[in-house]
Amino acid sequence: METPDSFNDRLENVADKVTVALDALIPPVAGPEGQLLSAMRYAALGNGKRIRPFFVLECGRLFDINERSLLRVASAVECIHAYSLIHDDLPCMDDDDLRRGRPSVHKAYDEGIAVLAGDALQALAFEIISDEATHTGPKVRAELIHKLAVASGARGMAGGQAIDVSVKDNTLEMPLIARMQRMKTGALFQFSAEAGGIMAQASADAFAALSGFSHDLGLAYQIVDDLLDAEGKLSETGKAVGKDVDKGKASFVLALGPEQARARARMLAGQAKAHLDFFGQSASILRQSVDFVIERTG
Ligand code: IPE
Ligand code: IPE
Ligand code: MG
Ligand code: MG
Ligand code: MG
Repeated sequence: METPDSFNDRLENVADKVTVALDALIPPVAGPEGQLLSAMRYAALGNGKRIRPFFVLECGRLFDINERSLLRVASAVECIHAYSLIHDDLPCMDDDDLRRGRPSVHKAYDEGIAVLAGDALQALAFEIISDEATHTGPKVRAELIHKLAVASGARGMAGGQAIDVSVKDNTLEMPLIARMQRMKTGALFQFSAEAGGIMAQASADAFAALSGFSHDLGLAYQIVDDLLDAEGKLSETGKAVGKDVDKGKASFVLALGPEQARARARMLAGQAKAHLDFFGQSASILRQSVDFVIERTG
């Protein structure tokens, strides 16, 4: 397996491979349900950064898990992520018409198809993970399914999104903002980082390092997303900017101001890197990825 040695090369390499894998996992179909499959492909094959698949692959490499298996898990995570974005953009949630530089799914298709494409991508994620091709051990597959379900559901992404949509006037206390961010974004990051450890039945110490790393990095990632809403450019983010403040969204940026929010993201990034010390030199690309998370402009 080739291993390009800079972060950018590796991210590009993973993005290409996961896009090929998703293309094969979501084949277009003719017939009356063709629109649904077309919308699923539109959402999943668009030009996302593929940062969660990157963490599945790079953390999985620490345990020598084979790339074919990791790509299946990475594809499943990206299906959950694509579903979360489709629903996040709906008029009843953030009401965003632009995603990844083109019309959101409910604009390119319609709201009914967008809801169903999200539903079907969520189901597909579990169809992919539960297949023997992902891992031969039924106990490992069950644990992957369980952890991805927890990360996606009421204790994870969906629960965090529920807190997000329930706040209309940015009134959350800081600890609750952190909890919301960790649920809506951090949980899927955490699963992505831990998946290889689950497949390798890694030691408790290795898990603690992976979970500490992704816990801090996931929160930093959402803080930077919120900073990009406040200060970024549509031409780089591919989505509308300046909307969170209008909507009274709870975030560290609105609670602390951009400078302190950026300082907090940097502090979390430093902590995330410290957790990687456990893996020594083999985590050097992961260390570089922390800088990307903090410095990205899109
Ligand atoms: C956007 O996620 C939504 C968040 C959870 C912050 P990404 O920034 O990973 O979006 P894509 O996949 O690259 O479009
Ligand atoms: C979304 O957060 C988090 C999800 C779980 C989808 P945002 O609403 O800030 O994400 P963007 O800015 O629309 O990508
Ligand atoms: Mg949102
Ligand atoms: Mg949104
Ligand atoms: Mg945002």
